[in-house]
Order: sequence, then C-alpha cells, then structure tokens
Amino acid sequence: MKKFLLLLALAFALALGTASLVSANGGPHGGYTATTDACAGCHRAHTAPGPRLLLANSTYDLCITCHGAAGAGANTNVDDGLYLSTRDDAPNGADGNVGAANTPDNAPLLGGGFQNYQGAPVTSIHDADGTTAAAWGNGVNRGVTADLAEGNLSCASCHDPHGSPNYRILKETINGNAVNVQQVDEGAAKDYDTEQWGTGMSSVCAACHSNYHVTTSGSGSDSTYLATGGYAHAVDMNYSYGGSNVNPETIGFGGYNLPLAESGVNDRVVCSTCHLSHGTAAAATGFADGAYDPPFGTVGPIPSGDSALLRLDNRGVCEVCHQK
Ligand code: HEC
Ligand code: HEC
Ligand code: HEC
Ligand code: HEC
Ligand code: HEC
Ligand code: HEC
Repeated sequence: MKKFLLLLALAFALALGTASLVSANGGPHGGYTATTDACAGCHRAHTAPGPRLLLANSTYDLCITCHGAAGAGANTNVDDGLYLSTRDDAPNGADGNVGAANTPDNAPLLGGGFQNYQGAPVTSIHDADGTTAAAWGNGVNRGVTADLAEGNLSCASCHDPHGSPNYRILKETINGNAVNVQQVDEGAAKDYDTEQWGTGMSSVCAACHSNYHVTTSGSGSDSTYLATGGYAHAVDMNYSYGGSNVNPETIGFGGYNLPLAESGVNDRVVCSTCHLSHGTAAAATGFADGAYDPPFGTVGPIPSGDSALLRLDNRGVCEVCHQK
C-alpha cells in the first residue's frame, strides 16, 4: 500500500505541474477546479484504508508519505527540518513543487523538525502523530493542561490540506478559535527559509494555548495575573524594552538573532519569536532543564532535557533581547 501511495503521490505531483502553474498554497493543497483530479491523490471513495476516506492509515501517515524523511512527494522534509530541492525535478513549480528558486538545497525549515533539526536529534516537538490531546493553557490557567476540542493533535489540527487564505495553509479555525495570519512573504516563488509572518502569527498558538496569550504591557509585574497562573511575559508588543531599542533580528547577542512578525513599522514579538512550530534540537540543561524543579514550587511534570520548542539553547532567547 505504501509503495502504491508513493507512486500515486509522484504521478500526482507530476500531473499537477501540467494542469496548474504555481498555486499560492503550493503542492496539492487547494486552488482546485470543478473537475480536479486532486481529491484522488489523497482520498478513495469506497476502498480507503484510513478514516476520512484517506489513502493512508491516518492523517499523520498521509502527510509523512510526501513530507517525511523517506517521502518523495514534497521538497519540505519536515522530519529532518530540511528543504530538499533534489526532490524537485524541475525548479520552481514545473512539477508542482514550488519554491526551489528562493530556497537553497538543504536549508533548515522555518518550522524546525519532528525528528532532527540542523543535524541533531530533537529535544521537544509538537507531537502530531494523533496520540496527544492535552495542551497547556487551553482555555484554562497557564501551567495547566486541558484536552483540545477537535481531538488529538495531528498535522491537520493546524494545517488545512485543502488550502487556506492563511500563511502556510494554516487553518482559519483551530480548536474552535479564529486564526488570521497574513502571508506577507514571497511572490510566485516560495521561500521556506525566511520568516516573514504577518502580525497575526500569535493567533495560531493562542488558538490552543489561549491563556499564554497575554498582551498587556507590564503583565510581568501585574498582580491581577496571579489568578490565571502567575505573572506573564507580554507578547505581541514592539521589541524595544526599558528605553533600549535592541532589534533581535539584527542586533542579537553573541551572534544569535530572533525573528519578529512584520508589521510595517516596529516589528512585533510573537510566540514564534521564541518558539519553533514543529520541533527543536535546543539544549535544556541546568536551571533550564524542563525537569528542574525550583525549591519554590513546580509547574508540572516535564521530561528531563525537554526544551519547550525554544529556538536557542537554554535561555539564549532571553539574552538576545535583554543582553544582561
Ligand atoms: C493533500 C491531501 C488531500 C487532498 C488533495 C484532498 N484532501 Fe480532503 N482531506 C485530507 C485530509 C488529511 C483530511 C482529514 C483531515 C483531518 O484529519 O481532520 C481530509 C478531509 C476531507 C473531508 C472531511 C473534512 C472536511 O474538510 O470537510 C472532506 C469532505 C474532503 N477531505 C474532501 C476532499 C475533496 C472533495 C478533495 C478534492 C477537491 C480533497 N478532499 C482533496 C487530505 C486531502
Ligand atoms: C501546532 C501547529 C502545527 C502542527 C501540529 C504542524 N504544523 Fe506545520 N507548520 C506550522 C506553522 C506555524 C508553520 C509555519 C512555520 C514558520 O514559518 O515559522 C508550519 C510550517 C509547515 C511547512 C512549511 C515548511 C516549514 O517548516 O516552515 C510544512 C510543509 C508543514 N508545516 C507541514 C506539517 C506536517 C506534515 C505536519 C505533521 C507531521 C505539521 N506541519 C504539523 C504549524 C503546525
Ligand atoms: C501528494 C503529496 C502531498 C501530500 C499527501 C501532502 N502534501 Fe503538503 N505539500 C506537497 C507539496 C508538493 C508542497 C509544495 C512545497 C514542497 O515541495 O514541499 C506542499 C506544501 C505544503 C505546505 C506549505 C504550504 C505553503 O503555503 O507553502 C504545508 C504546510 C503542507 N504541505 C502541509 C501538509 C499536510 C499537513 C499534509 C497532510 C494533511 C500534507 N501537506 C500532505 C505535497 C503533499
Ligand atoms: C492545535 C492545537 C495547538 C496549536 C495551534 C499549538 N499548540 Fe502547542 N501544544 C499543543 C499540544 C496538544 C501540546 C502538548 C502535546 C505535545 O507536546 O505535542 C503542545 C505543546 C506545546 C509546547 C510544549 C512542548 C514541550 O514538549 O515542551 C510548547 C512550547 C507549545 N506547544 C508552543 C506552541 C506555540 C509557540 C504554538 C504556535 C506556533 C503552538 N504551541 C500552537 C497544541 C497546540
Ligand atoms: C524578542 C525580545 C524579547 C525576548 C526574547 C525576551 N524579552 Fe523580556 N521583554 C521584552 C520586552 C519588549 C518587554 C516589555 C514588555 C511589556 O511591555 O510589558 C520585556 C519585559 C520583560 C520583563 C519585565 C516584565 C514586567 O512586566 O515587569 C522581564 C523580567 C523579562 N522581560 C524577562 C525575560 C526573560 C526571562 C526572557 C527569556 C525567557 C525574555 N524576557 C525574553 C522583550 C523580550
Ligand atoms: C520571550 C520568549 C517567549 C515568548 C514570546 C513566548 N514564550 Fe512560551 N516559553 C518560553 C520559555 C522560556 C518557556 C520555558 C518555560 C518557562 O520559562 O516558562 C516557554 C514555555 C512555553 C510552553 C510550555 C509550558 C510551560 O509553561 O512551560 C508553552 C505551551 C508556551 N511556552 C506557549 C507560548 C505561547 C502560546 C506563546 C505566545 C502567546 C509563547 N509561549 C510566547 C518563552 C517564550
């Protein structure tokens, strides 16, 4: 079955190239015509092995057939967090795989990786294989988990395989909440190694971790937040702090930088400034080890070495902006 699916995926990707030129969503995701063949690339009406009439055992398995380390149906290898233009037999869209022109071979992907990232095994991931449902701060206090409304986390919890007006086909409704992230990057050719998110980027994360979305200035010292889990670092504000104007995109610390959301002027600190979306290989040691319990209380059971999807080792993210 796997081999059949793979062949089908390949034939499908090739067919797409002749049928449609570059779709804004990329690949087989959306922009369908009234008599499209696309549905048959992922669904069977009577003989599907997976739920939702899918040609794979699960949504995760279907995505990984094309986007996985062993997949051949997409250039974006999300397992290893790599853009592989070698999977693209004709650059920039001719085979349906858009993006080669703007993304070098072997560039690390913006989302990180589910198994490896930048050549090292991951230390934390969004476990999208359909086995977990509990998300921190999901309509409850920060530091407390509750199950998602739409069932266990999968690739399709965040992405719409049928395309979307949002950046990277992120769903318009996630976990029952509206999500609006403009696609402010790339023209016709995709750019999978430069972050250029619109200011709505935090709405993706807030859809499942709503209680982490604290946007009030001074919330780190505002005691009214004690009722919802404790004082909280603000998000969705300008990057300047305490009179300093350290731009983390250009004036990082020790050669490290962090991305901001494009807002025209005064780019914004969003959840994804500090966190990767898929998985990270950052180190988490000493006080920064997820399993370290300070003598003054614990926030919950976190495995040893868990790096909370952070972009940089330990608390490197703090130093990029505050440079203490
Ligand atoms: C790239 C693979 C892919 C293609 C192409 C595709 N689908 Fe889907 N579709 C999926 C996946 C994956 C799910 C299940 C999502 C989930 O787990 O929630 C799904 C779910 C659905 C559902 C049920 C949920 C919903 O969104 O209403 C319908 C109906 C559907 N697809 C119809 C279609 C039709 C019609 C086409 C062709 C125009 C099509 N699909 C093309 C992957 C695909
Ligand atoms: C928790 C939400 C979430 C889940 C779950 C998720 N993604 Fe993503 N994904 C994102 C976001 C957000 C981005 C945009 C990353 C950026 O540009 O910084 C993204 C980007 C991507 C990209 C573009 C390449 C890249 O890394 O930037 C692909 C391809 C992709 N995801 C596929 C998948 C597949 C396949 C799965 C399941 C194995 C999956 N995603 C699970 C949120 C998610
Ligand atoms: C038949 C092969 C195939 C399947 C199955 C498939 N994709 Fe894709 N997908 C592609 C191709 C081709 C692209 C274009 C970029 C590339 O080459 O990686 C793409 C692009 C994407 C992007 C980037 C969209 C953008 O705006 O640039 C995301 C996100 C994504 N896919 C998620 C998924 C998810 C989630 C699933 C499972 C529900 C899935 N894909 C299943 C082939 C596939
Ligand atoms: C569809 C719901 C959903 C969305 C959207 C979502 N998350 Fe999560 N998140 C979860 C679930 C469920 C878990 C716990 C299970 C797991 O680790 O996969 C989790 C775990 C995490 C963790 C802890 C990981 C660890 O192992 O330490 C962090 C950090 C996180 N999410 C940040 C984010 C950020 C940042 C975004 C936006 C880019 C985001 N989440 C979007 C559902 C979601
Ligand atoms: C992208 C830049 C950036 C990063 C990364 C960052 N900060 Fe901040 N920090 C700010 C800004 C801007 C403010 C002012 C926020 C406000 O308006 O309340 C701030 C405020 C603070 C405050 C004062 C809070 C208050 O309300 O009194 C503390 C303490 C702090 N940060 C610690 C940290 C720590 C610890 C880390 C790492 C986990 C970190 N910051 C990461 C930019 C950043
Ligand atoms: C300034 C950097 C920064 C920003 C911005 C940020 N986080 Fe975090 N996040 C961290 C750090 C550091 C941790 C590790 C635990 C800690 O120090 O609280 C973490 C941990 C988490 C966790 C794991 C559970 C926990 O509390 O330890 C989740 C979930 C999470 N963040 C979600 C989000 C969401 C959602 C947003 C945006 C609304 C966001 N984060 C914005 C730095 C950040």
